[in-house]
Amino acid sequence: METVRLGLIGLGGMANVHVEQLLKLEGAVFTAICDSDVRKHAEWGERLGLGASARHSDPEALIRDPNVDAVLSITPNRVHAEIIRLCLVHGKPLMTEKPFTRTFAEAAELLELARSREIPCMVGFSYRYTPSFRMARDMIRGGRIGEVRHVFIQYLQQWGGPLFETPMNWRMDPAVTGTGTLGDLGSHMVDAARFLIGEPIRVSSLMSSLIKERKDPVSGNPVPVDIDDFAAFVAELEPGVPAVFQTSRNAFGAQNQFEISVYGDTGSLHMGWEDGEHLTWVHPNEERSEVREKIAVPERYKLKQMQDFLDLARGKVREETPGMRDGYLNQRVLEAIARSARERRSVAPEEIGAGWPVKEAGR
Ligand SMILES: NC(=O)c1ccc[n+]([C@@H]2O[C@H](COP(=O)([O-])OP(=O)(O)OC[C@H]3O[C@@H](n4cnc5c(N)ncnc54)[C@H](O)[C@@H]3O)[C@@H](O)[C@H]2O)c1
Repeated sequence: METVRLGLIGLGGMANVHVEQLLKLEGAVFTAICDSDVRKHAEWGERLGLGASARHSDPEALIRDPNVDAVLSITPNRVHAEIIRLCLVHGKPLMTEKPFTRTFAEAAELLELARSREIPCMVGFSYRYTPSFRMARDMIRGGRIGEVRHVFIQYLQQWGGPLFETPMNWRMDPAVTGTGTLGDLGSHMVDAARFLIGEPIRVSSLMSSLIKERKDPVSGNPVPVDIDDFAAFVAELEPGVPAVFQTSRNAFGAQNQFEISVYGDTGSLHMGWEDGEHLTWVHPNEERSEVREKIAVPERYKLKQMQDFLDLARGKVREETPGMRDGYLNQRVLEAIARSARERRSVAPEEIGAGWPVKEAGR
């Protein structure tokens, strides 16, 4: 199996998750790391067996490194667009984290560049790798619940709630993050809707900043916060399927509660990340009585996200792999949701900007 030499940018929380998975896969080897916080270099360098010359603080130095075949970008949202741009310019395949960019304007600039270069790009919509979500997609497409009539999606976490006294961090600073829970968790919900059903063509939303003040992590002084830590929206998904969404960082009792229900004419499907290896299929028997089946998801729906990335770096791109097109269109929907909340009216993503050019694959 062809070895892929990887460069890792951003040595924070999510890097741990991806690296742990990659180190278990055949043919993945790290050849460079990068973080703007140089205090992280020694720990990560030792962990991955990389000396001083492979430790960078400037992303471009890593991206240009001839010993790097593909790039993993796991940085705060403000940095995403520039790293994607550099990878396109220097011809390096990459995986970039969600949300695709901080704003739609950044995504639109990347679209222009991507049109002239075909560089494989994967976006970190990790929940496409939840086995039950993948199986549900097949069941919906195979007509197992008949015509889809409506959808419910929620993604709840609790860490932002007052009891946890979470200090101010970049996820609450609009200049770094863009939107709050909408971009963070809502981007996953939008991706799930697109993955399972279709493109949102109109949205109507409500976003709330529930906690107005947090402690500065250094001084301990209170600082004002103005970012959405709750967002709810309804959307019409192509082809005319209504969907209801809610996301929160203040949902006491919710660790990582990402749940989806899809209702069709002849059945419904219910799934969640916390028990991602099972799917509940409710359907009628011959007497039209309800049958509730809890299905263990078969092996063929289990694909590691990082295996998909390694395969993409080797030139094999699956139809389900979330690519640049998905990132761009997702960002357009997020912007429509934010505008809808601001202007208190429904917004079509088309109003935000052009769609992805049809003929271009956009990986
Ligand atoms: N796919 C998922 O399910 C998932 C889950 C968690 C986080 N994420 C995404 O991953 C990204 C990172 O999140 P995290 O929790 O790891 O954050 P983090 O704050 O723990 O880590 C980010 C790291 O990037 C470094 N960094 C900041 N600016 C940089 C720059 N200009 N150049 C190089 N390094 C820089 C920071 O010093 C830090 O070490 C975010 O975009 C987040 O939305 C995705």
